[in-house]
Amino acid sequence: MSRKPIIAGNWKMNKTASEAREFVDAVKNAIPSNELVDTVIGSPAIFLEGMKKGVKGTELQVAAQNCYFENAGAFTGENSPATIADLGVEYVIIGHSERRDYFHETDEDINKKAHAIFANGMTPIICCGESLETYEAGKAVEFVGAQVSAALKGLTAEQVASSVIAYEPIWAIGTGKSATSADAQNMCKAVRDVVAADFGQEVADKVRVQYGGSVNPSNVAEYMACPDVDGALVGGASLQPDSFLALLDFVK
Ligand code: PGA
Repeated sequence: MSRKPIIAGNWKMNKTASEAREFVDAVKNAIPSNELVDTVIGSPAIFLEGMKKGVKGTELQVAAQNCYFENAGAFTGENSPATIADLGVEYVIIGHSERRDYFHETDEDINKKAHAIFANGMTPIICCGESLETYEAGKAVEFVGAQVSAALKGLTAEQVASSVIAYEPIWAIGTGKSATSADAQNMCKAVRDVVAADFGQEVADKVRVQYGGSVNPSNVAEYMACPDVDGALVGGASLQPDSFLALLDFVK
């Protein structure tokens, strides 16, 4: 089963609008064809519109880093999935461990967001991943499996097949301590097995599973060589144009 790789930068709360513009100008003509790889930048919501204008006519796609699960209403400070979709944004990252930990997002919130993202014609990048404590207790598969099942609840088979799931062990995020490629492969396979149990093997064969956590230009190819790793979600190494472009070298 061949699945198209997907490399997504996650800028988190970094860059001003002008820095984002400079970045896009620096990389936009060097992005490989999206027949080979989907290349995505997860930008802060406040300049998603500028990002979409900046990438027009290029192979770069844009993700929001979060959204609310209602389209409109009295939800001060939140971003509507309908508004994000109206800008032409293709993906929304949801359930990142920083959102779960610092902003108390629950599996139920993440599931509602997944439904809202599909209802607005976009694709969720659904993050999951265990803490160091859970990893060391040997409970990563069980913990991550429960997160994945909860996030996908009630979606159609077609929606799940088109989803992206990012396995990101919390202990590897921003720490420089990346998972071994064997660990990444095992966990991405475990995620796919959960999708197979809940939605069938055909769906599981289509869903794209990324590894994330201290991915950089020198280790990305090793992850991409794993049969169940279909891409990467990259924080720190996605911030500089040279480093971001080097993450895509594995397709050459
Ligand atoms: P990192 O972040 O690449 O800086 O470890 C990954 C992420 O949080 O998505």
